[in-house]
Amino acid sequence: MACGLKICLMVFVVGNIEALVDGAPQVPCYFIFGDSLVDSGNNNVLETVAKANNLPYGVDFPGGPTGRFCNGRNIADIIAEHLGFDSHIQPFVIAQGQDILNGINYGSGGSGILDETGQQLGARISLGGQLENHQTTISKISTILGNNQSAIEHLNKCLYSVGMGSNDYINNYFMPEHYNTSRQHNPNQYASLLIQQYSLRLRALYNYGARKVVLFALGLIGCAPYELKRNIGLPCVPHINLAVNLFNNKLKVLVDNLNQQLAGAKFIYVNTTGISTTMGFGFRFSNAPCCTVSTGIGEGQCLSQQDPCPNRNEYVFFDAFHPTEAANVIMGGRAYTSQNPFDTYPVDIRGLVQL
Ligand SMILES: *[C@@H]1O[C@H](CO)[C@@H](O)[C@H](O)[C@H]1NC(C)=O
Ligand SMILES: *[C@@H]1O[C@H](CO)[C@@H](O)[C@H](O)[C@H]1NC(C)=O
Ligand SMILES: *[C@@H]1O[C@H](CO)[C@@H](O)[C@H](O)[C@H]1NC(C)=O
Repeated sequence: MACGLKICLMVFVVGNIEALVDGAPQVPCYFIFGDSLVDSGNNNVLETVAKANNLPYGVDFPGGPTGRFCNGRNIADIIAEHLGFDSHIQPFVIAQGQDILNGINYGSGGSGILDETGQQLGARISLGGQLENHQTTISKISTILGNNQSAIEHLNKCLYSVGMGSNDYINNYFMPEHYNTSRQHNPNQYASLLIQQYSLRLRALYNYGARKVVLFALGLIGCAPYELKRNIGLPCVPHINLAVNLFNNKLKVLVDNLNQQLAGAKFIYVNTTGISTTMGFGFRFSNAPCCTVSTGIGEGQCLSQQDPCPNRNEYVFFDAFHPTEAANVIMGGRAYTSQNPFDTYPVDIRGLVQL
């Protein structure tokens, strides 16, 4: 072929860019903050009973157990797949080198918005601790990209998701044998206290360059097998669901406030309760765990090395708290592409990443 070197190179480069655009994820990076619903191995190295790096956890995950509190993929994995990433986002504890440019998963089982939350389980990384880890990541990104300005530009383009608060109820407010919060605050005061603290943390995240942020509301904790066992005889525990609803309603208001007050901020709300209520009807077992669960401290996790139920796709819950992969596929799918006007607010993740 007769062509000058320069033109040949251009053809080559343009062709390659097109290939990259076709296969590239919709955002260059995805950062994940949360608890055991997203933890993908950060707790493996912590001294805690909130660990999931043993079978039957991971029974359906390629390569087996990783620390995910699920038989297979968790909701952050499902969202990363919808975004077009060709591998899951690495947990903070093992991510290194150029990998961190794709994002990091900071999730930690047992953690909450309040630092004290989950302390009876052992070590965990609270939302505040996860933000400190994010600062470490940011300085590494600055080093890789050569300066702070490029790091900020990169961080502005990423997607962020935060799912926090379940443990502030399960492993704090509704555990009066270990925590005083329910004696100090009524449910409305407690929800306000959590939202106030959450708001401070989310504003810090914004100050670290986050613009597109997905906030997961809390699920119906009062319908989880764990709470049903503690409150025998009820289909769901109404006072727990009412308390969680107060939090969720305030969280939706917080989304509006952050979008109005922070220039360029695009926060969205995922209606976890609404999605799980409507998807529950599609499963044969919506309030029984698939695996045999433990008792005592750390109660409700799968007993190590015991065979789980064979028909995992028929269960909403894998252990007494955590959804099965089958439930995560639906939840993550509807957070990404909402199926009705209630699923996400004001837009779904697919819409958010296009903004
Ligand atoms: C980059 O940011 C860090 C911390 O925010 C700061 O200490 C450092 O001086 C900054 N470097 C440059 C070149 O601006
Ligand atoms: C709860 O309150 C009691 C009595 O006021 C106090 O002794 C205890 O340290 C408190 N526990 C926690 C976890 O704050
Ligand atoms: C969540 O979805 C349900 C219906 O699925 C709806 O009734 C409820 O109002 C929604 N909640 C919020 C806070 O948008």
